[in-house]
Amino acid sequence: MRLDKFLSDMAVASRSESAKAVRAGRITVNGVPVNRADGHIDPEKDTVALDGVQVFYRRFNYIMMNKPEGYVSSTDDPRETTVLELLPDNMRKLNLFPCGRLDKDAVGLLLLTDNGVLAHRLLSPKRHVDKVYRVVCARDVEGVEALEEGITLADGYTTMPAKYERTEARSGYLTIGEGKYHQVKRMFAALGNHVSLLERVGFGPLTLDTSLKRGEWRYLTDAETEMLEAAGGSEKAKKTTEKGKDRQ
Ligand code: URA
Repeated sequence: MRLDKFLSDMAVASRSESAKAVRAGRITVNGVPVNRADGHIDPEKDTVALDGVQVFYRRFNYIMMNKPEGYVSSTDDPRETTVLELLPDNMRKLNLFPCGRLDKDAVGLLLLTDNGVLAHRLLSPKRHVDKVYRVVCARDVEGVEALEEGITLADGYTTMPAKYERTEARSGYLTIGEGKYHQVKRMFAALGNHVSLLERVGFGPLTLDTSLKRGEWRYLTDAETEMLEAAGGSEKAKKTTEKGKDRQ
């Protein structure tokens, strides 16, 4: 891969900025300053640094965001502010999109990625990836058994069995393995209640990083990325599992 393409793909510098940085002697490959921005590197093997700071190679980008209220989970919207607007400008070109949606008034864990295949798998209704929501309701929560057995929503759809862990009379954690439109709100509405606060705290193997304030984000760690790829049954994770099986 060309060095300037690598730096641009990693959202570190545009191609023209890369050329300038090379001329200024700010870029090294394997510790040696380079004199061509169009030279080739192997992103899996070579160590590229800008001003002495290593630029790590990411084939895909995975970002955990603590979504604040008032933002919509889409890539662009003519009327609303999108979660992508919480990212710096240089990340716009990464083609990130939210993997799953949270309502405009919902908060908490939102995964953003540019890995369409994995996102598709994680969101597939067949895969039943667990989502955990902290809910605070307007009234005491009654009828938990119905939530746990599967509850029939106003449109006639019966949900899959869920798990509810009560923390207080009006609040608790609901775990669901599916993701229908406004599902959590509609499940509590079917109990005659109303969700006044909805926060996602878990998505598959990911748990909301509570050190992130609302509106803040970070890249997933390598361990989180591996767990996520395994949850989506990616080729890499499958191969690792198969290798693991061979060793047993
Ligand atoms: N269920 C809802 O009702 N809203 C969300 O944003 C997510 C799940």
